[in-house]
Amino acid sequence: MPVFLLFNRVALNRVVMRRDVIELSATNIIRRKLHLLQNQAFINGKWVDALSGQKFDVTNPVNEQTLGTVPDMNVDDLNEAIDTAYQTFYSKGWHTSTSKERAALLKKWFHFLETNRQEIARIMTSESGKPIAESLGEITYGNSFVEWFAEEARRVYGEIVPTPQANRQMMLIKQPVGVAGLITPWNFPHAMITRKAAAAIAAGCTVIIKPAEDTPLTALALTKLAEEAGFPKGVLNVVTSSRKNAASIGELLCRSEKVAAISFTGSTEVGKLLYKQCANGIKRIGLELGGNAPFIVFDSADLNKAVDGAMNSKFRNCGQTCISANRFLVQDGIYDRFMSRLLERVKQLKIGDGSQDGVQIGPLINRSQLTKVSQFVEDAKQKGAEVVCGGKQLPEHGSLYFAPTIVTRLRNDMRLYNEEVFGPVISIIRFKTEDEALKIANGTQRGLAGYFYSTDLNQVFRVSKLLESGMIGVNEGLISSAEAAFGGIKESGIGREGSKYGIDEYVYIKYLCYGNLE
Ligand code: SIN
Repeated sequence: MPVFLLFNRVALNRVVMRRDVIELSATNIIRRKLHLLQNQAFINGKWVDALSGQKFDVTNPVNEQTLGTVPDMNVDDLNEAIDTAYQTFYSKGWHTSTSKERAALLKKWFHFLETNRQEIARIMTSESGKPIAESLGEITYGNSFVEWFAEEARRVYGEIVPTPQANRQMMLIKQPVGVAGLITPWNFPHAMITRKAAAAIAAGCTVIIKPAEDTPLTALALTKLAEEAGFPKGVLNVVTSSRKNAASIGELLCRSEKVAAISFTGSTEVGKLLYKQCANGIKRIGLELGGNAPFIVFDSADLNKAVDGAMNSKFRNCGQTCISANRFLVQDGIYDRFMSRLLERVKQLKIGDGSQDGVQIGPLINRSQLTKVSQFVEDAKQKGAEVVCGGKQLPEHGSLYFAPTIVTRLRNDMRLYNEEVFGPVISIIRFKTEDEALKIANGTQRGLAGYFYSTDLNQVFRVSKLLESGMIGVNEGLISSAEAAFGGIKESGIGREGSKYGIDEYVYIKYLCYGNLE
């Protein structure tokens, strides 16, 4: 029995998520508690409903059936969460917790996240449609942020500055900013939470997480494990809401004087709005926004590596990744060989229900995403692009499936060229010279990720410097890692997540001047 049937049965029973349900392993049926499946939000260490009593449905994109319900919270609930997080930080003393204590908590959370991998993966696949192997991959990735920031928590060093006056001592110390509001997307329902929350908590902040409307169940599963790991009340709070309340919740997080920092991953359009809302309070904000990643294959590229990289970069999470390659630029001399190998590989992709073994391409997350991808391909066709394969919806698999697609003869008046498609569509541009490729690659206001394949060492160094992106994969299509500084330039964002810089988003530097020393 596939996992979605399991959840459907729960929904049918209308017992709002029975927990002692049957879970399947790959080979045999085992009876086990699905104890991470939560149907309430989490404020001040308590599992709570919305004050209004409202709920919203969470659905499985494979078949659009209801998996369960969660509270549809609004600004009243958020105000409670903000007060709680604020008091926990100030009057209840979280700001005086030691980095060693916080590191120990994060390590315990990491341990629980690791031991519950299978259950989190099933929940994630059910609500996001992501193939189970990718969900497990995301869990490895997401957990690695908790482990990394548990380690980094102990190294938030200040400085003693050589003084220009003999009777002075000067120091710079780093202190947590206070309450952090974390607004996270549906495409990585686990990793985008841990990348922010683990950094903020390591720094000594308290957090309010607003998970995406499409994928709150994974967020609540992680929260359950944080509770079991012994997080003190009020340190980690989760406010769930439907799309209807999302904008007002985002706005209050940005405008509240009790919230010191915002971190958002999502579209550039929403990021710009939040940035404006934060301006009035001069609030710290980290933005990881949309991209329009070029993927350049130069004549000297290793063909196999370039095709592997293209497949990995494009089809991870069905193309619904901010750093997915969006425009493929292929040089004249390698064009035919690259295209025929790529087509062969795209045709082999296994499409289906992500809970089934071997499936590589699941559904898109929701109807508006499906409509957008379909419209982009239609727009390109009408303007003269050629659809080499795919290019259509796949109702035989489900109502939210779109075929892996290759489009050639892309031009700069097409939406596929100018905007992030966020779907399984490879758009190809043929080019002649390095200058021409760089001009096309950089001719966008987005600058998140970029990729290029070349075995010419001089070209590798030259192009690495000239490509206008915050992150570059050189002969590599998968670049994400807890150790790396993730973030964009231009309209793709500000700030960095992961790496030793991730904590900087949640601390400020305080300068201490000890004067008149004798
Ligand atoms: C994203 O798509 O927003 C994040 C992708 C990643 O961290 O690899």
